[in-house]
Amino acid sequence: MSAFEQPKSFAFTGENLTRAKQHMAKYPEGRQNSAVMPLLDLAQRQHDGWLPLAAMDHVAEVLGMEPIRVYEVANFYTMYNLKPVGRRHVQVCTNICCLLRGSDDVEAACRKELGIDFGETTDDGMFTLTEVECLGACVNAPMMQINDDYYEDLDAKSAAKILKELKNGGTPKPGPQNARKGCEPITYKGKGA
Ligand code: FES
Repeated sequence: MSAFEQPKSFAFTGENLTRAKQHMAKYPEGRQNSAVMPLLDLAQRQHDGWLPLAAMDHVAEVLGMEPIRVYEVANFYTMYNLKPVGRRHVQVCTNICCLLRGSDDVEAACRKELGIDFGETTDDGMFTLTEVECLGACVNAPMMQINDDYYEDLDAKSAAKILKELKNGGTPKPGPQNARKGCEPITYKGKGA
């Protein structure tokens, strides 16, 4: 892991503090800790996609929790990044459904196109490549998540095309990368077929 700096302080912007309070208000009095996940997500989005210690401490303070409890949550879920990530965070699912449907090819295409391995970030800070467990889109396996978008029904060619388009400043269309609509059965030929 390359060295990176932990900022000395973090505080929610006024807008995010309002959002944080809205999340906290969804839970019964005394159960505000239940909002820890959305608050960590807010903090991560505010801080360029990763969660420094100061942000976790701030979330703990806002919720009145012990910081260690917040660290435990942030360490458990791969959706929280505890070190800086590139502007495009490419998360390739290699879990069972994706593996059976060709995630090895997708993974190899990403490595080749980006010139980095899992856990690494390109020198220009544009892409980080991460291996993740099931992202809940098994019916459209194999798939990868890039920032908030899911790219599904991938193969080596479509994965490379998506990354190329992003490199060139384009906006590839999320969702299935074959002719399939949503998660209809792969053999479905359309209405009345
Ligand atoms: S196994 Fe890849 S999304 Fe479920």
